[in-house]
Amino acid sequence: MLGPVLLAAARSEQIRKLVSAAPVTRPVVDRFVAGEQLDDALETIRSLDARGMEVTLDYLGEDITDPAEATRNRDAYLYLAEALKGEGLGVRAEMSVKLSAFGQALPGGHDLALANITPVVEAAAEANTTVTLDMEDHTTVDSTLAILDTLRERFPQTGAVVQSYLFRTEDDCHRLAGAGSRVRLVKGAYKEPATVAFQDKKEVDRAYVRCLKILMAGDGYPMVGSHDPRMVAITQDLARRFGRKQDEYEFQMLFGIREQEQERLVSEGHRVRTYIPYGTDWYGYFMRRLAERPANLAFFLRSLASR
Ligand code: FDA
Repeated sequence: MLGPVLLAAARSEQIRKLVSAAPVTRPVVDRFVAGEQLDDALETIRSLDARGMEVTLDYLGEDITDPAEATRNRDAYLYLAEALKGEGLGVRAEMSVKLSAFGQALPGGHDLALANITPVVEAAAEANTTVTLDMEDHTTVDSTLAILDTLRERFPQTGAVVQSYLFRTEDDCHRLAGAGSRVRLVKGAYKEPATVAFQDKKEVDRAYVRCLKILMAGDGYPMVGSHDPRMVAITQDLARRFGRKQDEYEFQMLFGIREQEQERLVSEGHRVRTYIPYGTDWYGYFMRRLAERPANLAFFLRSLASR
């Protein structure tokens, strides 16, 4: 019940100010966010790399309202790409980008976002790595997938995210399951209307399995973005059924969530990529993590009460 309320709050400027100003918020945020500075993220990459994990870096930001912010976000990613080149990890350290941080929702936003993401994808290629386009609310899906198609003409390794809660996603999976594609399958983290998305968790899970089958049976590279033990087990079964080796798909989980499971999968020889958010604009990301799990909210409220 609380999930939809928290997801609505994730887009409220007033609640953003309240939550961000609360002194107790920071330690709870730190559970999910690697730090505010690039150096914090680099330290986290090195520590995870030493433990056999691959990473995708997210410079936090979304829903910007001013084109100057889009430029600043693009520059932050160019700076990140340069730093990743220095780390020399290649595709073991890639980047995840939300196109709303690059101006997608502004007037002329499709072209603006494409203009801003293109140099970032070029810089990623220079650093021998790549970019995955995160997926935001359903109104952005057509634009994001069209930008993906354009980018893939020059950079076929560019990845995208699809969300199993959307009715359209099985069709998108069929289209994206071809050779050379990189697709991260997730359940979906936004508040979506019943006209476009399953509302019942069981239906979202069933759709996830259907999409997983399409991607695992296809010729692309599936990136299984889920902490759900059932989805992990089903992926392993499908890999056996479709003869995929362990380096022909990967698991992805978020920083700070089910870390032991991430390590367990690595110890079994699986490829595991941790999604690492960093930066100061953590509010929307943080609220979605609270909405996913009542226990996270309870932890946050307990720390408020203990002040
Ligand atoms: P589910 O929600 O069923 O959770 C299964 C179990 O995982 C829980 O029982 C719990 O143990 C653990 N868990 C899940 N969420 C937790 C949390 N917040 N805190 C603590 N434990 C938790 N979404 C989107 O719309 N667009 C995107 O681009 C992305 N990108 C993305 C990248 C990666 C690498 C991941 C892993 C996820 C995303 N997501 C996303 C988020 C995704 O849509 C979804 O909201 C979360 O992954 C939670 O769904 P699960 O599949 O983990 O299952």
